[in-house]
Amino acid sequence: MFNSVKLSNETFHKARDYIYSKCGIYIQDTKKYLVENRLQKRLQEKNLRSFEDYLYLLQYDKNEQTQLFNLITTRETSFFREPLLLEAFYKVLLPQVSKSKAGKPINIWSAGCSTGEEPYTLAMYLLEYSGGRSNAKILGTDLSSDAIASAKRAVYGDYSLRNATPEFLKKYFTKTAGGLTVSPTVKKLVQFKEMNLTDERAMRGVRGMDFIFCRNTMIYFDNSVKQKVVSFYYDSLSPGGYLFVGASESLHSVSRAFKPMAINKAVVYKKG
Ligand SMILES: C[S@@+](CC[C@H](N)C(=O)[O-])C[C@H]1O[C@@H](n2cnc3c(N)ncnc32)[C@H](O)[C@@H]1O
Repeated sequence: MFNSVKLSNETFHKARDYIYSKCGIYIQDTKKYLVENRLQKRLQEKNLRSFEDYLYLLQYDKNEQTQLFNLITTRETSFFREPLLLEAFYKVLLPQVSKSKAGKPINIWSAGCSTGEEPYTLAMYLLEYSGGRSNAKILGTDLSSDAIASAKRAVYGDYSLRNATPEFLKKYFTKTAGGLTVSPTVKKLVQFKEMNLTDERAMRGVRGMDFIFCRNTMIYFDNSVKQKVVSFYYDSLSPGGYLFVGASESLHSVSRAFKPMAINKAVVYKKG
């Protein structure tokens, strides 16, 4: 039987500072149990007797940082999440932007895409809009290597698909051993990549986006990290491009560079 290791307040603060400095995720004091619980198994796997030893390991083992990101990220997501925002996208903004692009590919970035449900949902709407022949390019990025690996596999269970209509299920998925697999036509539109939103060099490499979706991801950041990430998004968007944040989020007190626009009951942000 494994004896659980205790995480002292002092070591928790060191771990919290380390995580914050590497990826911007800020863990409140009240969430100490979360770090303690999620890292417990890892200590066991690595045969470590204390959290101090784990912090030491992180300093010289680069791969361990990747594992840490996998353990501390919350990857809750689903297909067709936050329908009002999606409606604003495919009913109002997509037709407008498509017209202005006059046949050139639309570029979309799902930043913090988790296991892929968001970018695949967008790809399905693009196919609906274009009658099945979209030339759009969707980039899905996430900090977690496990999430990206799962997104590339593109196999989903009932929970992920609980909001999918029978029509979409029939059209864009096939039954396979592990669940429902996203069809090749949808997969073809999406490219996945591991990327840290606080990595300035990587962020500066993304340009010419027409839409950025960063929903339910910046909620783990404090205001100063949000400001930095949103300023990267500003530079990544083409003039007139749109930033979507989660339904419970806002750029109020984060950035004045964007123009908030209400569409039905959804709020989206336009680069002026
Ligand atoms: C709750 S999920 C949101 C998924 C999807 N956008 C949605 O709204 O359904 C948050 C995702 O943000 C990712 N994330 C957190 N910090 C990140 C960072 N610094 N860089 C990139 N992704 C990050 C996590 O790995 C996780 O997959």
